[in-house]
Amino acid sequence: MHIHRYEKIWLTFGITMLIVFLVVLGVGAFALGAQTPGEHDHAQHQSRQTVNPETVDQTAPFNELGLKKIGDNEYDAYMLAFAFGYSPDKMEVPVGATVHFHITSKDVVHGFQIPGTNVNMMVVPGEVNHLTYKFTKKGEFLVLCNEYCGAAHEMMQTLIIVK
Ligand code: CUA
Repeated sequence: MHIHRYEKIWLTFGITMLIVFLVVLGVGAFALGAQTPGEHDHAQHQSRQTVNPETVDQTAPFNELGLKKIGDNEYDAYMLAFAFGYSPDKMEVPVGATVHFHITSKDVVHGFQIPGTNVNMMVVPGEVNHLTYKFTKKGEFLVLCNEYCGAAHEMMQTLIIVK
């Protein structure tokens, strides 16, 4: 069978494009597959971090809960939510403090809301949920769970004392 010269060129071009396409697909799939949760362990300020809810309380940074001073009146607050409470169950910060909350759940989806402020987020197991808030007023701030999580949902709370 005689193949015209132009047909040959187009055939070569077509096959080349197919190979390029397959290589791009392969590289893309490989890049996705290489993104294992472990690689996020050291990126604490990444918006999406994954954790294992079953072992999170033995895994840094959630093995040491509470406030860590990171700057001038600036804190990281590592917290766990569970049915039915939060750890720690009380924290104290100076007035004017900026607090970066990092919280995850050991079991089901919980809420994290401070009535009277714009602090309101879902606490999803398997994820680290972040929220930053500056406490400009003195007083006692109750953190409440606003996602129905079981029989004692209404009792679920923690206290932040600003002084
Ligand atoms: Cu936890 Cu409702």
